[in-house]
Amino acid sequence: MDYFNFKGKNLYAEDVPVSRIAKECGTPIYIYSLKTLRRHYKAYTESFAGVPNIICYSVKANSNLSVLNAFAKEGSGFDIVSGGELFRALKAGADPSKIVFSGVGKNEDEIEYALKSSILMFNVESPGELKAVNRVARRLKTKAPVAIRINPNVDPKTHPYISTGLKKNKFGIETNEAFKEYLYAKKSLKNLSLIGVDCHIGSQLTEIEPFVDALKKVKSFIKKLRKEGVNIKYLDMGGGLGIRYDEETPPHPSDYGEAIIKETKALDVTLIFEPGRSMVGNAGILATKVLYTKQGSKKNFVIVDAAMNDLTRPSLYGAYHAIEPVISPAAGSETILADVVGPICETGDFLGQNISLPVLKEGALLAVKSAGAYGFTMSSNYNSRRRAAEVMVDGKEFSVIRKREEFEDLINGEALPRIKKSVKKPVKKAAAKKTTAKRAQ
Ligand code: LLP
Repeated sequence: MDYFNFKGKNLYAEDVPVSRIAKECGTPIYIYSLKTLRRHYKAYTESFAGVPNIICYSVKANSNLSVLNAFAKEGSGFDIVSGGELFRALKAGADPSKIVFSGVGKNEDEIEYALKSSILMFNVESPGELKAVNRVARRLKTKAPVAIRINPNVDPKTHPYISTGLKKNKFGIETNEAFKEYLYAKKSLKNLSLIGVDCHIGSQLTEIEPFVDALKKVKSFIKKLRKEGVNIKYLDMGGGLGIRYDEETPPHPSDYGEAIIKETKALDVTLIFEPGRSMVGNAGILATKVLYTKQGSKKNFVIVDAAMNDLTRPSLYGAYHAIEPVISPAAGSETILADVVGPICETGDFLGQNISLPVLKEGALLAVKSAGAYGFTMSSNYNSRRRAAEVMVDGKEFSVIRKREEFEDLINGEALPRIKKSVKKPVKKAAAKKTTAKRAQ
C-alpha cells in the first residue's frame, strides 16, 4: 500500500501533483512519500508487537539521509554493510545499539569504526573475518558482539543474482562449518562475545515457505549451540520480503510475522529483521520526461531523460517496473506498445520493454513505479550523467532531499596528473665552454 494515487487525471504523491514537482525541480527525479515509509515501518512493528524484536532497516535499499532519519525517528534500527553506511546511519540519527553490520568483506578500518561506535552486532561471514574482528577488538581492548551468518542451503526461488542462501553463493558459512567456528571462537577468540545467529537467504521473496525452511534449520542450530554453552540471544532473519512490481502477490509483513512467531515461540530470542525493499520500494517513483518518440520498423521507442544510470534494475536483472503517464490520457485514446529507453549509448539502456502506453507527446511525464528501493542507491554517473535529484513528500509539502548533481560534481576529486618533468641538470656555463673547446680541438 502506498500514497501514489490519481486524483482525477493527475498522479499525486500524497497531496502533491507529481507534475508540480517535476516542473519545479526538473527531471529525472526520485519522489518518495514519507507517509508510505512510516506505514511500512509500522507494518513490521505491528506484525512483531508480541515478541522481543528489532527492525533494522537495510540501508543499501535507499540510503538518503532523510529516509534514514525518517526511520530513525520511528525507532528503527539499521542493517549496514560498509563504513559508509555506518557514517550515513549515524549522521541520520541512528541509535548505534540497534545497528547490525552485515557483508562478506568488512575491512579492519570498518570493523574498528563500528566497534568504536558501539554497534549491536557484527554478522560475520567467514572464519577469516571472525579472526579479524577478534584481532581489532583485542587491539581496542574490548569485546566484539558477533553472530555468524549461516548459509542454510535453502532455495529462495528468486532471481539468481539476489539469492544468497544456497551452497553455491558466497554468503555465510555452511551450517556444519559454522558450528565448528562457534566452538573454536568460544575456546580461542576471547575478544568476541557470541550473542547471535544470522541468516539471510535472498531478496524479493514472494513466498513464506523458504523463510520457514531456513528458520527451522536455524532453530535447531541455536539449540545445538546452547547445549555447548554458547548463549545465543539474537536471531537475525535478514531481509528479503518481496513487493509487488507486477503480478506478484508477496506475503504481507503480518503473514510473515505470524509464520515466524509461530516457529520461534519457545526459542527465547530477540528477533532481528533487516527489511529493505519492502520498506522503501513502493514508497518511491522515478519521474521522467519524454524527450522524443521514434517509430522503428519493428519497435516503437519512447526516449526519456532517465536512463540505466538512474535506475539500473531493468537492465541488470531484466526487472519489471510499471511505467505510466503522470497525466492520464483521455478515455479511449489510442495505445501503443513501446520500449521506454534512455539516452545512454547501450542497447541495454531501457526502463521498460513492450510497455503499453498512450501516444505520447514530447515533454510528457512518465512515472516509473516501485523505484524507492535499489533505485538511487544503485545509480551511477555513467556517460557522465549527473545523478538525479531526490524529493520527499509529506502531505501537501515537499522538499528536495538531494539536489541534482551539477557538472562540477562530476569531476569532484579528479585532478590532472602532477608528474614532475625529468629536469636535465643545467650544464654549468664554464664547463660547457670547456667541452665546446675540447670538441673544437
Ligand atoms: N540483509 C542482507 C544481509 C542483505 O544482503 C540484504 C539485501 C538485505 C538485508 C535486504 O534485503 P531486502 O529486504 O531488500 O530484500 N539490488 C537488488 C537487491 C539486492 C539485495 C541485496 N541484499 C535489486 O535491485 O533487486
